[in-house]
Amino acid sequence: MMSKSRFVQFSKPLLGTEEAQAAYDTVMSGWVTQGPRVAGFESEFAQAVGSTHCVAVSNCTTALHLALQAADVGPGDEVVTVSYSFLATANAIRYLGAWPVFIDIEPGTWNMDPARIEGAITPKTKAILCVHQFGMPCDLTGIMAVADRHGLPVIEDAACAIGSEIRIGESWERIGRPRGLAACFSLHPRKVLTSGDGGVITTNDAELDRKARMWRQHAMSVSDLARSSSSQVIIETFDEVGYNYRMTDIQAAVAREQLKRLDDIVEARRALGRRYLELLADIPGVELPVEPAYARTTWQTFGVLLPKGVDRTVVMQGMQDAGIQTRRSTFCCHLEKAHAASPSRFALPVSEEVYARNLGLPLHPQLGHDDQDYVVASLRAVLKGHAA
Ligand SMILES: Cc1ncc(COP(=O)(O)O)c(C=O)c1O
Repeated sequence: MMSKSRFVQFSKPLLGTEEAQAAYDTVMSGWVTQGPRVAGFESEFAQAVGSTHCVAVSNCTTALHLALQAADVGPGDEVVTVSYSFLATANAIRYLGAWPVFIDIEPGTWNMDPARIEGAITPKTKAILCVHQFGMPCDLTGIMAVADRHGLPVIEDAACAIGSEIRIGESWERIGRPRGLAACFSLHPRKVLTSGDGGVITTNDAELDRKARMWRQHAMSVSDLARSSSSQVIIETFDEVGYNYRMTDIQAAVAREQLKRLDDIVEARRALGRRYLELLADIPGVELPVEPAYARTTWQTFGVLLPKGVDRTVVMQGMQDAGIQTRRSTFCCHLEKAHAASPSRFALPVSEEVYARNLGLPLHPQLGHDDQDYVVASLRAVLKGHAA
């Protein structure tokens, strides 16, 4: 059954001639960074998720940095967040000299447990940074209720959640409207859509939009696009310290083509996710992710919890030997040296267990059913061998 010549990729972006042509056209247009195509992408993305404003930046990490800065997070402040996430979530807080206060996640969804927020709030708390992990919407209704009681802004780390949907009250909406102050998305190749790299901030707050636009381009008082389009000479000023967090027009041109594929990509991913849930259901000891009634995920990463006591590295090697790429899904920031100094006020048993047992399986829109069957059969065989 296990043939070494077979290769199943963990993740593979769906890019075609449309994206290549769009990049080509942009190069030939002569305007290659933060120009008309970035502006076009911003309005199309805002429309796709239902936000009033949208700011394109270089990646999701810089998006988080700007959103937190706009929420007035600064040195010595605290931001309540989860440890069970990619390092960028906590890093963005540290860029501002603030501290992440890690709270535990819920079993099943592996997302922030709203019941734990209140106990983490102190006079130093400036914001809540929740994560829609692996594309699974977190319980925004529960999180917003606590945030509103305490007057705290919520930033949504939606790096993995382009195309994910959440039910608020009786109606469904895409992540990014946003429900908090801002949502931040990633266009890295492992995400649902990609432009190589890229990030997006969506917000309904005009002031956040203005600040993010200014900061992303060295805090210049007027954009290149506005300056170049004006018949009058404009003398720009720099009134504060900004950053170079620009998205290029080449990236935006690719991203616009990707956006046209969003519905198809999400449908394909959801169908594969449903199929995995069925195929994996009877493997002894394996625990599957839970999609709650208020969420429609994209399975940006499809992870399962391996049986307790199983050595994940051995399983990963077994899968690798069968020609199948697997990953650890994500990390626990507090277990990495980079965040060892963060004030660790709470035990995080669920995060640590989910981190230790989580195995990400291949899932991308080009994955065939035969590949998926092969992944499941191989996992079954590897686990059986492990138990023997
Ligand atoms: C939850 C989460 N937040 C933030 C990021 C950072 O995204 P980017 O690579 O676009 O900076 C990632 C990327 O993997 C992520 O998974």
